[in-house]
Amino acid sequence: MSAGTGRLEGKRALVVGGAGSIGAAIVTKLVAEGAMVVAADRNASALAGVTAEGSVSSAVIDIADAQSVADGVAEAVSAMGGLDIVVNATGISHQGRTIDEETIEGWNEVLAVNLTGSFVLVKATLEHLGEGSSYVFVSSTGAERGLPLNLAYGATKAGLANFTKGLSNAVAARGIRVNTVGPGLMAYPVRNDQDSTDRRVGRTEVVPLGRLGEGSDIANVVAFLASDEAGWVTGQNVYVDGGSLAR
Ligand SMILES: NC(=O)c1ccc[n+]([C@@H]2O[C@H](COP(=O)([O-])OP(=O)(O)OC[C@H]3O[C@@H](n4cnc5c(N)ncnc54)[C@H](O)[C@@H]3O)[C@@H](O)[C@H]2O)c1
Repeated sequence: MSAGTGRLEGKRALVVGGAGSIGAAIVTKLVAEGAMVVAADRNASALAGVTAEGSVSSAVIDIADAQSVADGVAEAVSAMGGLDIVVNATGISHQGRTIDEETIEGWNEVLAVNLTGSFVLVKATLEHLGEGSSYVFVSSTGAERGLPLNLAYGATKAGLANFTKGLSNAVAARGIRVNTVGPGLMAYPVRNDQDSTDRRVGRTEVVPLGRLGEGSDIANVVAFLASDEAGWVTGQNVYVDGGSLAR
């Protein structure tokens, strides 16, 4: 576990997608910084591995199902006695599908998780958040680039960037902040529950800092944005990509 500063002491965090590569690293980091954390995911068996670390409880949530989100949020709020930080680290991808291969059903499947999921999560959690609370959505550098072989994914991440800007203004008067963290090329691609092959070996040459991203690279920035140190940061899409977007 990475060293913490205690800057999230007393904060109560819900991390949806908490069983994923990036989500689990975020859970670990928030706990290390002193937060109480409920890790949520639709993958119950993977969640068990995350909560085995101790001091983390879990809730099974399918973010594409509004009732499941409402039930899981109620469970998390009851377990922690409230809520201050909401992180959405879920995500699915249809990497490799051409425009001829992608279907309307496939498009809607990606939108339901990657974009509508964040809206549904906000609808279920906003009433529980007070002054000093914050949302952090995990986005992607794909929000800024055309992705000809991942059209729905890119559209959802660009949509999430704009949702974040609008929502940040909508809830600013309540003292709630909203930001995204957008990973670049990571050591592990989005797995879609089954694919664990590393398709990116050998692509470090496109990353100016010369390596692929690790979960901790993303988690460190999420922890900062969720903390009071980022008290004047809202409506921002922060890319954590080893310099890739700047090329
Ligand atoms: N890995 C990368 O290369 C990369 C790059 C840029 C952005 N991202 C983004 O980071 C986020 C996390 O990705 P990751 O790499 O950890 O992927 P991952 O596949 O390891 O984790 C995603 C998690 O989301 C969960 N999930 C999927 N659909 C869900 C649903 N309907 N309800 C609840 N949980 C659901 C999965 O069970 C999984 O635990 C995603 O938003 C992804 O788009 C990843």
